[in-house]
Amino acid sequence: MITEKMMKNLSTLAVLSFIALMYSSCKSDKKHPGYEFMPDMYRNAAVKTYRVSDFFNDSLSALTPVAGTMPRGINTYFPYPNTNEGYEAAGATLTNPVALTDLTIEEGKELYTIKCRHCHGEKGDGKGTIKVKGDLFPVPSYFDETRMALKEGHMFFSITYGKNLMGPHASLLSQEERWKVIHYIQHLQKNYLAEQNKTAAGN
Ligand code: HEC
Repeated sequence: MITEKMMKNLSTLAVLSFIALMYSSCKSDKKHPGYEFMPDMYRNAAVKTYRVSDFFNDSLSALTPVAGTMPRGINTYFPYPNTNEGYEAAGATLTNPVALTDLTIEEGKELYTIKCRHCHGEKGDGKGTIKVKGDLFPVPSYFDETRMALKEGHMFFSITYGKNLMGPHASLLSQEERWKVIHYIQHLQKNYLAEQNKTAAGN
């Protein structure tokens, strides 16, 4: 027979056990939280990229992609090797696949402001806020004779691989973004030419 008194004792015991459990799950040491329910949910075992791993037959944890895999995303396939010949070939054959619209120029401007302006300057005259003293290869103006003669393929190549003091931007901008920035640079060049012609006509 379960008496009323037994019931009372049992519930007191249950309450006390619950409180004890709650207390045991807390610690004053902030670096070590108390009991965690399913800790693996928060802390999965870290696997370093190029460690030998026994998961796949003692190979590296980063597996080589399957033969014939096409890279997607930011580092998409770029068939021109990083040589002078590659540069000339890109200049001769590569054309901008992104439609030239007010919007793509505007998007190019936004990317340029974030990734290029500090070196190339807001106007593209090479007068960015970053100055390299005693520099053999100063940041050029987009409006000098050499840069005005650049084909868009040359620009794409140099932005992708970098050139002298300009670092490669392949991992910083997708191909589409690089083409948009080129639209913006050419937009600056066109405006510059129009300004020049206006001044010449004024004289
Ligand atoms: C660290 C400074 C720096 C940054 C950032 C930078 N550039 Fe340059 N850029 C240079 C320098 C220096 C050169 C001149 C390279 C040379 O010919 O010696 C150059 C050259 C160029 C050229 C001419 C390439 C050629 O083939 O002659 C283009 C186009 C260009 N940059 C575009 C960009 C764009 C677009 C960005 C942003 C996505 C960018 N640059 C970011 C420093 C920079």
